[in-house]
Amino acid sequence: MKNASSHHPVSTAAPSFLSLLDVHARLNEIFLLHQEALLMQDIHLARERLLQFERELLAHMMFEEERLFPIYERAGRIPGGPLELFAGEHRKMRLFLDRFKQRLDGWIPPPPDLKRQIIALFDEQAMFKHLVEHHDLREQNILYPTLDRVTDERERQQLLHLKGRSRS
Ligand SMILES: [Fe+2]
Ligand SMILES: [Fe+2]
Repeated sequence: MKNASSHHPVSTAAPSFLSLLDVHARLNEIFLLHQEALLMQDIHLARERLLQFERELLAHMMFEEERLFPIYERAGRIPGGPLELFAGEHRKMRLFLDRFKQRLDGWIPPPPDLKRQIIALFDEQAMFKHLVEHHDLREQNILYPTLDRVTDERERQQLLHLKGRSRS
């Protein structure tokens, strides 16, 4: 039975960490825009979009590492979702990003075999996208639902409010 006396002034929709899936979707979109620029061989645009992707991905991962991981530990040992796994995937993503940036930096001025090099980069980026896909799925199925379970509505609201404030 519902508690009729509880009236929250803030929001009627129950906050959930699953709302962070919107961030994942936005990141995927920016990465695709980066790849579209690569297809057009517009290296400057591709670089600009990669840097935007990096900024937003790093902000998201930092939010997860600093704010969410400590809370996730409250749940104890979760099968299929040890904290080191999430942290390790973040580390791998950062390494991929550094390599992508190095490649693009080497394309100013464009080398004669630029098209071949772009194909090689796409191959590498396919591995990255695979890693991200698995990581996001694990967060969707394990990390975020567990965080919903070990927090109350007030704490969820506070934390999810924080992620909106990006320190550029
Ligand atoms: Fe993550
Ligand atoms: Fe995430």
